[in-house]
Amino acid sequence: MTVQPDIYSELSNHIKPSPIRALIPFIRQPGVISFAGGLPAPETFPVEQIQEITQNILEEEPGSALQYGPTTGDPRLRQAVADRLTKKMGVDVEADQVIITTGSQQALFLAAMIHVDRGDAVGVESPTFTGGISAFDPFHAKFIPFEMDEDGIKTDQLEAWLAAGNRLKMLYTIPDFQNPTGVTLSLERRKHMVELAKTYNFIIMEDAPYTDLRYSGEPVQSVYSLDDSGHTYYCGSFSKIFSPIRLGWLVAPKEVIDRLNVAKQPVDTCSPMLTQAIAYYFLSQNYLGPQIEKITAFYKARRDVMLSALDELMPEGVTWTRPEGGMFVWITVPEHVDVQQLFHKAIDNKVAFVTGSAFFIDEAVQPNTLRVNFVSENGEQITEGIKRLAESLKDML
Ligand SMILES: Cc1ncc(COP(=O)(O)O)c(C=O)c1O
Repeated sequence: MTVQPDIYSELSNHIKPSPIRALIPFIRQPGVISFAGGLPAPETFPVEQIQEITQNILEEEPGSALQYGPTTGDPRLRQAVADRLTKKMGVDVEADQVIITTGSQQALFLAAMIHVDRGDAVGVESPTFTGGISAFDPFHAKFIPFEMDEDGIKTDQLEAWLAAGNRLKMLYTIPDFQNPTGVTLSLERRKHMVELAKTYNFIIMEDAPYTDLRYSGEPVQSVYSLDDSGHTYYCGSFSKIFSPIRLGWLVAPKEVIDRLNVAKQPVDTCSPMLTQAIAYYFLSQNYLGPQIEKITAFYKARRDVMLSALDELMPEGVTWTRPEGGMFVWITVPEHVDVQQLFHKAIDNKVAFVTGSAFFIDEAVQPNTLRVNFVSENGEQITEGIKRLAESLKDML
C-alpha cells in the first residue's frame, strides 16, 4: 500500500499483537503436541444440551433471540448470573450490578475504558495474563508489576509502593489458578489487598474465569466478597465452564454498570441475544452444575497425568507449580537455559509451550520460565509431550 504510515491512529500504532498468537505457525505444524494454547478441551462442550436448547429457543422465541437486545444484557441472564454468584460468594449480588459482556476479555477492556487515562498506574501480577495487558494498553496505562510467590501477588510489595506516595488507579488480579502460573492467592493476602484498596482508594479488578475449575484443596473466598466498600469489581466467563461462545460478565456497583453500559454501546451495541438465551436456559435448567462436575473430573485427570509426568521425567534443577485447579502449570528451568532457544528445540522435537517472557511487562524478567496447558491434550499425549520437552531440555543443560 502506498499510503503514509500516519494514516493510522496513534492507538493502532501503539497496540501490539498477542505474543501467543504469534506462535501459532510453529504450534500448528503436523505432529506437534501443543501445551501452548489456552483453549478448553472441545470434548467437554455440552453439544447435545446446546442443540436441544437452541432448537427450543428458535421455536419459542426467535423474534427476541435473533434480535438486538439491551446493552447490559438479557435481563434473565443478568438475574441468573446474579443469583448464582450470590449463592457461590455468600454476598448479595443484584441483577442491576451485573453487565453481560462479549467474553470477559471485553469486561476488562470496558473497565479500562471507563477508568484508565494516559499514564494512570495499573498494578499487575508479574507474570500476568497477556489479554489483561492488552485490555489496558490501548489506554496507555502505566503498568506496575508486583512479584508473585506460591501465595500469589506479594501485597506487602504493593503496600510499600503505595506507602511511598505512589497513586494506583487499578489493580488487576487473577486470584484463582492464575493464568499463567496456576497459583492461588491466599486468603490473608486477599484481605490485605482489600484493606489497601480502601486506604489508598484504588479499584481491584478481580478476574475469575477459572474459579469453578478446582480439582483439589478448599475454595478461597473471592476478593469481591471480602470487600464491603465497592472498590472491587468481579469478572467471570462462560468460556472455561461451558464454551467460549463469547459471553462473560462484570459485577460492580450499579453506577459503574451504568457507565459500562454507555461505554459498551459503541463497541458492539449488545452481546448476541441468541447465545445469551442459550446460556440463560443452560443455567435455569440446572445444566451448569453437572457440566462443571464433568469438566473438573476430566481436567483433574489430565492435571494429575501432567504432574506425574513432570515428577518422573524432568531433569534436576527444573521446578514447577502444582495448581489446585485451572489450566496451567508454570515451569522454571535453570537460569542459564535460553527459553527462546528451548522453544525452537522443542518445536523440532514436536512439542510446544509458551515462553514465560510473554507474560511479563518487562520482557527481560524471568526469561527462564514457561507455561504449559494441561487440559488440551489427552493423557497419552501429555506424557509423550513432557518426555519430548524433558529431552529438549536435557540437550541444553
Ligand atoms: C485470566 C483470564 N481472563 C480472561 C480471559 C478471557 O476470557 P473470555 O473468553 O471470557 O474472554 C482469559 C482467557 O484465557 C483468561 O485466562
